[in-house]
Amino acid sequence: MYPPRVIRLARPWIGAEELDGVREVLESGMLVMGARVAAFEARLAEVCERRHAIAVGSGTAALELALEALDVRSHRVLCPALSWPSPAHAIVRSGAVPVLYDVDPASWNGTPEGAAAARTPLVRAAIVIDQFGMPAPHPPSDVPTIVDAACSIGSTVDGRPAPARGTIACLSFHPRKLLTTGEGGACLTDDDALADALRALRNHGQRDGGFVVAAGNQRMTEMAAAMGLAQLDRLDAIVARRRELADRYRDALPDARVQRPARDGVESNWQTFGVIVDDRDALVAALREDGVEAGRLSFAMNRIGSLAGRFEAGSPDFAVAESLEDGGLALPLHPLMSDADQARVIERFRRHTGS
Ligand SMILES: Cc1ncc(COP(=O)(O)O)c(C=O)c1O
Repeated sequence: MYPPRVIRLARPWIGAEELDGVREVLESGMLVMGARVAAFEARLAEVCERRHAIAVGSGTAALELALEALDVRSHRVLCPALSWPSPAHAIVRSGAVPVLYDVDPASWNGTPEGAAAARTPLVRAAIVIDQFGMPAPHPPSDVPTIVDAACSIGSTVDGRPAPARGTIACLSFHPRKLLTTGEGGACLTDDDALADALRALRNHGQRDGGFVVAAGNQRMTEMAAAMGLAQLDRLDAIVARRRELADRYRDALPDARVQRPARDGVESNWQTFGVIVDDRDALVAALREDGVEAGRLSFAMNRIGSLAGRFEAGSPDFAVAESLEDGGLALPLHPLMSDADQARVIERFRRHTGS
């Protein structure tokens, strides 16, 4: 018997427009810092309702440059404990110390109360993570806030784009995210001075023909920006299809432990649809046998080796983040997924979990 066709966990939606855009760039011979990057930044700023967008090489680079622009060196930075390691790693690499605090059991995000309890006089900035695309509430903070919006372009808070929040919001365009440029990211801000600093930091420290800061190269290519322009045209359709699929999962699995918005008015793009299960690894293996690619959801930062001895605990424990690391499962969800494939995932999930 042939193995079943695999239903993929995630898959970018790439069409003729992306191919045409990249081909035009290659034929033009102008591969970096040209019209496409400028046009992509202008469209991104408009879509996210920000004054400035600065395109960079990855979401991680966006976080690193944001922390550098805010000059957090030798200070403390608040950071929720559940995430892909990029935000916490970026804090360590900027010469600061992450103050980790546990996340909320319903929204799986950090809360203003959690951030307030973790706050000490040494804290110089706060990272807020819109986990799996679900916008997190803001800490009522007297320090600058970086919104890690790697997953949340297309999500809204009271009708406004999730990346419209924060002193600086950082986006990712990795293929697992809503929009992709292969690798890619961006910093968004309304602050003119910060925008100038970020532009210099991503481009060898250059400003007005001189070198004003010792910085590296985090520029986005013209090929990536051409893809990004085509992807921005798809944003509404991608979000609509993701919400449709997520609604169907929730209707079909009413007792499943899934992520919930912190309050009315918060709308996720469902970048990842997670569910907490009892024996995640066994379920991943069983689904794989059935041709369904499901995966582990996220990581508890207090447990990863790279941060051992390098963070401060901002909450008494990390019980929620750890339970999500241990039991969190990501189900297939992407805009090209068919209704029939989703029905098959639901049927298999129910069968294996007895739900
Ligand atoms: C919350 C979060 N922040 C940052 C990143 C890093 O983005 P990139 O892969 O573009 O460096 C990711 C990506 O996996 C993420 O999930």
